[in-house]
Amino acid sequence: MKILAIETSCDETSVAIVETTGSRIKPVFRVLSHLVSSQIAMHTRFGGVVPNLARREHERLLVPLFLKALREAGVIEISNIKYKISKLPGKNKNEIRDILHREGDLLAQFEKKIFSLPMPGIDVIAVTNGPGLAPALWVGVNFARALSHLWDIPLIPVNHMKGHLFSGLLQSGKEIDRYQISNVKFPLLGLLVSGGHTELVRMKKFGDYAIIGETLDDAVGEAFDKVARMLGLGYPGGPAIAAAAVRYQTAHTKKQDNALPVIKRFPRPMIGSKNFNFSFSGLKTSVLYFIRDLADKKSLRDLTPGIAKEFQDAAVDVLVAKTIRAIKEKDIRTLAVGGGVSANRLLSARLAQEVKIQCPQTELFIPHPSLTGDNALMIAVAAVMDGKKKTPNHVGVEANMRLSV
Ligand code: KG4
Ligand code: ZN
Repeated sequence: MKILAIETSCDETSVAIVETTGSRIKPVFRVLSHLVSSQIAMHTRFGGVVPNLARREHERLLVPLFLKALREAGVIEISNIKYKISKLPGKNKNEIRDILHREGDLLAQFEKKIFSLPMPGIDVIAVTNGPGLAPALWVGVNFARALSHLWDIPLIPVNHMKGHLFSGLLQSGKEIDRYQISNVKFPLLGLLVSGGHTELVRMKKFGDYAIIGETLDDAVGEAFDKVARMLGLGYPGGPAIAAAAVRYQTAHTKKQDNALPVIKRFPRPMIGSKNFNFSFSGLKTSVLYFIRDLADKKSLRDLTPGIAKEFQDAAVDVLVAKTIRAIKEKDIRTLAVGGGVSANRLLSARLAQEVKIQCPQTELFIPHPSLTGDNALMIAVAAVMDGKKKTPNHVGVEANMRLSV
């Protein structure tokens, strides 16, 4: 089976074409093409993702990325095609125009470059339909619906967080383009940490999700982004904070302790609470007050690496403590981490250390560095492992979609 997967939930436009072989329970995923185009450079100027700009960029990029993916995957011979007037019946064209009527730029490119394409060897289309930014999600969903309609291929709507969960479980094979889902023992705990989510998800089996804890306010990635903005470190904040903290550590190893500026220890909100929920807004505010109360504003530049380190330590402490407690109390055998913040080295190192010491019966899975961020490969995998086919008219966007059974 060949799957075309599309991801446009935030600021990456991504298309993958993946072939599955092997058994249904243990499929092998062969990546025929996987393209991720990041809009980060564009949003950096605004200090965060601007939904309508993201939508415009997805509209602009999706058709060229899709054509490149088809070509790379070898599922269509595009170079020989002259873009001629399409032979599609008028009814079919009008229905597609209807689907894409709000995405004018995308429709224009679709009419010019896709109406006339021969049908490629694709069996199913997977698309992220939530959670995420509604204007951004609609571009991918409507594009997928239009293709599904044009070629009469079924559609699988995919929850973005399921994608992040499965990205942690992907194990690369001997050949670099092949992946398999690792053998996992249940119950499995997913620690999903991204720009919009911080969740602990318990799975008794694939397809059975129970959110046992989540953030009550800011997501952890959002807190990294907001603190980075306060420190003038730019967007996205996660990598910038992590890099600044490394600068502090390097200075620390070179100098005597007392030669470095002293920073306050920030609070670890809800670290001792009995439930598995999180809160990062108080931590963020604590950093804000620390900066506001600095007697000498000019010293902020010198203090920035230390503040970044203290903030990161506090955020990671809470994530690790709650996760370890959930593993113990819920008798968890596998911990799978996913989402943009899983790229954080301190988080992965601390989890590895604590799992080894405190929960040696539990196996830890962290995504390959190329798959921590948003990507279409994880959407293809989630569709195969746990997706349901639908007709295009039954697929819409759910910007606040939650993981459920
Ligand atoms: O999963 P993702 O790419 O997009 C969403 O679904 O939100 O996650 C993006 C988030 C951003 O908040 C970004 O700052 C954070 O992941 N992030 C990190 C790191 N790399 C990305 N946070 C901490 N440390 C990192 N190294
Ligand atoms: Zn994401």
